[in-house]
Amino acid sequence: MIITVAGFKGGVGKTTTAVHLACYFAKKSDKTLLVDGDPNRSSLSWSKRGTLPFQVCDLMSAAKASRGKEHVIVDTEAHPDEDELEALAEGCDLLVLPSTPDALALEALLATVDNLQNLTAYGVVLTMVDSRKKGTATQAKETLNRLSIPVFNQMIRRLTAYEKAALVGVPVYETGDRFGRIAWGEYESLAKEIESYA
Ligand SMILES: Nc1ncnc2c1ncn2[C@@H]1O[C@H](COP(=O)(O)OP(=O)(O)O)[C@@H](O)[C@H]1O
Ligand SMILES: [Mg+2]
Repeated sequence: MIITVAGFKGGVGKTTTAVHLACYFAKKSDKTLLVDGDPNRSSLSWSKRGTLPFQVCDLMSAAKASRGKEHVIVDTEAHPDEDELEALAEGCDLLVLPSTPDALALEALLATVDNLQNLTAYGVVLTMVDSRKKGTATQAKETLNRLSIPVFNQMIRRLTAYEKAALVGVPVYETGDRFGRIAWGEYESLAKEIESYA
């Protein structure tokens, strides 16, 4: 299965999502690859700061690296133009669109979805959800539901464990943070929902 993580906005958790989805699939099969399609090389830097339990490669070497792989997760840069988004959509089985629940991010999300024009299966994952403002996330979900935009049930909470994971270069469950396991549980449930698409 090829899963691409994309969206117009930067800083909404695309790389964090791509890394942890790859962690989940890597536990199932060692034939898991994360392709870093962002010129900023955030996923590659993550893996170089520490270690991740799967291979990470850049876009230029993706063709060869993906040979024989069972699961390929693609992390992408923000602000794809219409053609790029179309190519991304056509190149995957499922497009995962992370978004924070605030109005600006949702607006960027709606523009993304508008450009998809039934090109591929996709789903939105609400990220960096503030535990004290769950109402905002629920409202965002309702808005998306009203617009018939598919949203994954599992939301990802704002937890510093994720920042630690990126800094140290490991999966969130290896940070030693006391919320590390809880954080991992969120991505695990998200990945299970995603699996059901296959
Ligand atoms: N759920 C979360 N809770 C707290 N911080 C997060 C969460 N997801 C991502 N971050 C942090 O927010 C910043 C942006 O996340 P990142 O995954 O790099 O987003 P993007 O790839 O969309 O630019 C990073 O510093 C990351 O560690
Ligand atoms: Mg990124």
